[in-house]
Amino acid sequence: MLCVLTLLLAAAGSLGDDTDGGVAFRIPLNDGNAMPALGFGTFLGLDENGMRPPGEHEAEYPVRWALEAGYRLLDTAVTYQTEGQVGRAWRASGIPREHVFVVTKLSTSESRNVVASLRGSLARLNMSYVDLYLIHSTISIKPDHSGFDIIDYLDTWRGMEEVKRLGLARSIGISNFNVSQIQRLMAHCEIKPSVLQVEVNLNLAQNKLVDYCKSQDIVVMAFSPFGSLFSRDPPPRPPAPRANDPILVGMANKYNKTTPQIVLRYLVQRGLVPIPKSLNRLRIQQNIQIFDFQLTDEEMHTLSEFNRDYRIFFPTFWQDHPYYPFERVDRPGPSLFKGQGY
Ligand SMILES: NC(=O)c1ccc[n+]([C@@H]2O[C@H](COP(=O)([O-])OP(=O)(O)OC[C@H]3O[C@@H](n4cnc5c(N)ncnc54)[C@H](OP(=O)(O)O)[C@@H]3O)[C@@H](O)[C@H]2O)c1
Ligand SMILES: *[C@@H]1O[C@H](CO)[C@@H](O)[C@H](O)[C@H]1NC(C)=O
Ligand SMILES: *[C@@H]1O[C@H](CO)[C@@H](O)[C@H](O)[C@H]1NC(C)=O
Ligand SMILES: *[C@@H]1O[C@H](CO)[C@@H](O)[C@H](O)[C@H]1NC(C)=O
Repeated sequence: MLCVLTLLLAAAGSLGDDTDGGVAFRIPLNDGNAMPALGFGTFLGLDENGMRPPGEHEAEYPVRWALEAGYRLLDTAVTYQTEGQVGRAWRASGIPREHVFVVTKLSTSESRNVVASLRGSLARLNMSYVDLYLIHSTISIKPDHSGFDIIDYLDTWRGMEEVKRLGLARSIGISNFNVSQIQRLMAHCEIKPSVLQVEVNLNLAQNKLVDYCKSQDIVVMAFSPFGSLFSRDPPPRPPAPRANDPILVGMANKYNKTTPQIVLRYLVQRGLVPIPKSLNRLRIQQNIQIFDFQLTDEEMHTLSEFNRDYRIFFPTFWQDHPYYPFERVDRPGPSLFKGQGY
């Protein structure tokens, strides 16, 4: 009953629960399931060796704070090495399993063994199913991370269909695919992807990809939703805005919100599912307090003008792979992942 109500609210594009700015409404998926309109990211970033492994409770406590603050979507991946801590945090929360939407991703080095790989993730999560399983990337690398593996993502997708049939994943989807790759997948799949997870933020609107997914009833999750908002990178500086940008501050003051909250609300009103990451309890709480106000059409338009088609996640060291999804550049930068693979 409550579920039907929230679905109706979501479909009408209206606000979430008026009494609590922290409760995200649910968005229907093309397979009959539904997912929260905002989630919690658990990628801790990189260090000089590649993926930075988490400290003992480094992700676990933030995930607990997120659940306490009202988040009901948790985004993890084999690669982030946070699955175990996500599972422990959920178990400690006492929240019923069916009230939490858990997302994990197939590592690029396990494309040939989808079922076994998901079983490994489930063991680390200590759960019997995930709500959403994503192919992390169209790129594949060898299991020993010694180099590229050339595996057609259409073949990997058969494994994804299998885990859905087995009930190990309630919904299945993709990440870091481009439009033509999704079109090719749609033409050859038995079960359609329900979700695409890609980078979307003020500097990277992804209008073509988002419009195409809308036309195919695929929900788009926005990773790195803050883009360069907090960037302290040396020159060449990434495009504006920063968190103290006068346009953002004006909107934030009008609604008694912070500028990161304005950015997240903008993405939600575009029908996207942002998955902000924070390890700070107060910021975790603030980032979900965005369901008690609404930006005007004019404000939405103003924010859309920050688009510069500028990527943060731009792994050019993969660009010689035949299934590389992004624009290729003349002189690719050095590998960030130093043989650790992804
Ligand atoms: N599918 C993919 O290939 C892929 C790629 C990248 C990311 N992701 C997913 O997307 C999630 C989010 O992306 P992301 O982690 O790259 O970036 P993000 O969520 O856009 O930004 C995270 C950064 O913003 C800071 N921050 C968060 N809230 C803030 C606030 N209210 N005020 C000021 N600073 C704030 C965080 O610092 P503090 O922690 O100090 O607050 C952190 O440094 C990831 O965790 C991961 O789950 C997926
Ligand atoms: C895994 O979950 C079961 C309950 O389903 C619980 O009894 C057990 O303690 C959990 N294991 C770990 C390592 O948390
Ligand atoms: C503004 O927001 C803060 C933080 O959420 C809250 O404590 C305060 O009561 C709000 N002020 C008004 C006038 O709504
Ligand atoms: C999409 O990916 C394919 C590789 O599968 C590549 O050939 C194509 O150029 C990419 N499209 C865009 C717009 O980058």
